[in-house]
Amino acid sequence: MTARGGALHVAVLGAGTVGREVVAALLERRPELIAADGASLELTGVAVRDVDRARAGGVPAALLTDAPAHLVADPATDVIVELIGGDEPARTLIAAALGAGKAVVTANKHVLAHHGAALEAVARRTGAPLRFEAAVGGGIPVLGPLASDLAANRVRAIRGIVNGTTNYILAAMAEEGREYEEVLTAAQAAGYAEADPSGDVEGHDAANKLVILVRLAFGCWLDPVDVRLVASDGPGAGRPGITGIGADDIAAARRRGEAIKLIASAVLEADGRIDASVLPTLVGADTALGRTAGVLNRIEIEAEPVGTVAFSGPGAGGAATASAVLGDLMAIARDRGSTWAGLPPAAAS
Ligand SMILES: NC(=O)c1ccc[n+]([C@@H]2O[C@H](COP(=O)([O-])OP(=O)(O)OC[C@H]3O[C@@H](n4cnc5c(N)ncnc54)[C@H](OP(=O)(O)O)[C@@H]3O)[C@@H](O)[C@H]2O)c1
Repeated sequence: MTARGGALHVAVLGAGTVGREVVAALLERRPELIAADGASLELTGVAVRDVDRARAGGVPAALLTDAPAHLVADPATDVIVELIGGDEPARTLIAAALGAGKAVVTANKHVLAHHGAALEAVARRTGAPLRFEAAVGGGIPVLGPLASDLAANRVRAIRGIVNGTTNYILAAMAEEGREYEEVLTAAQAAGYAEADPSGDVEGHDAANKLVILVRLAFGCWLDPVDVRLVASDGPGAGRPGITGIGADDIAAARRRGEAIKLIASAVLEADGRIDASVLPTLVGADTALGRTAGVLNRIEIEAEPVGTVAFSGPGAGGAATASAVLGDLMAIARDRGSTWAGLPPAAAS
């Protein structure tokens, strides 16, 4: 990928919660986003479904289109930033861009968890960088450190809180002594939970993020269906995610000095298998995980020889997530390759 006159041409697909922050930064903070040893970033297109609404929201009309595939196919586009979300058309757009040798930045944990192996194969074949720091932990840098700064370690286990919606609901249930359904309805009204909350509350979103963490920590793409979402005993047993947790479970935990958190966990077993789960879990209320409240995320990595290291911070939100997307764009401008950096190609799981 060669920068034209020192500038990489960037097309952003999606200008919603995250995309609009990325677009604003590329338009308003361009001089700040030039690394001393990198190309500059020039925003050359923005794709949305509703062009009029995006224009009313401040995106210049000259940049807007409702045809993301045209931006991907345009020979003048160097970098695609996919912020549409979901399965299709995101998967096809990312695959087409990588296939054409264009760099891709995405925050799309669903696409990576379900199609990561195929997309990695295309990126490795064409040499196009694929970066996805924003897909796990929003603004928290965790994938880059796993692939680079911790590359000399053998990871034993990962565990953490990676879904802000469920963490918010559990914390509100604990603070207010209210039942799950009641808190969920209030969270939906306040914009902390989606109209269809199943992806969050049943654990699928956290499972997708765990699949991505596993790729970087253990070198393989797990099938998301292999992540256990239903506990056989303990709080909420028999129901996926946090859907079986009641106010009485939380009150009982509290009396014992514990909190219930939705914990994503991947452990490397002695036989080389990876035990992956997203389950409601009792943790000490006074531990770092127990104190991780609201939409904050925390990811703990146990590795040798480093020991345990932890990453915490804002796990969602437009501005925080845009921070990770923009960091990836700057890494591309500096020719730093894919998020997996120097790690070997993924093994079959
Ligand atoms: N929000 C967060 O805090 C957060 C945190 C971490 C990661 N992420 C990930 O970031 C990605 C974007 O999330 P978001 O919250 O920004 O989503 P969003 O607010 O729903 O925005 C989606 C954008 O994509 C556009 N879009 C949808 N379908 C399209 C199509 N077929 N063609 C062109 N444009 C299309 C929408 O256009 P219209 O507005 O015109 O419909 C909208 O601008 C997702 O993968 C999400 O999982 C989000």
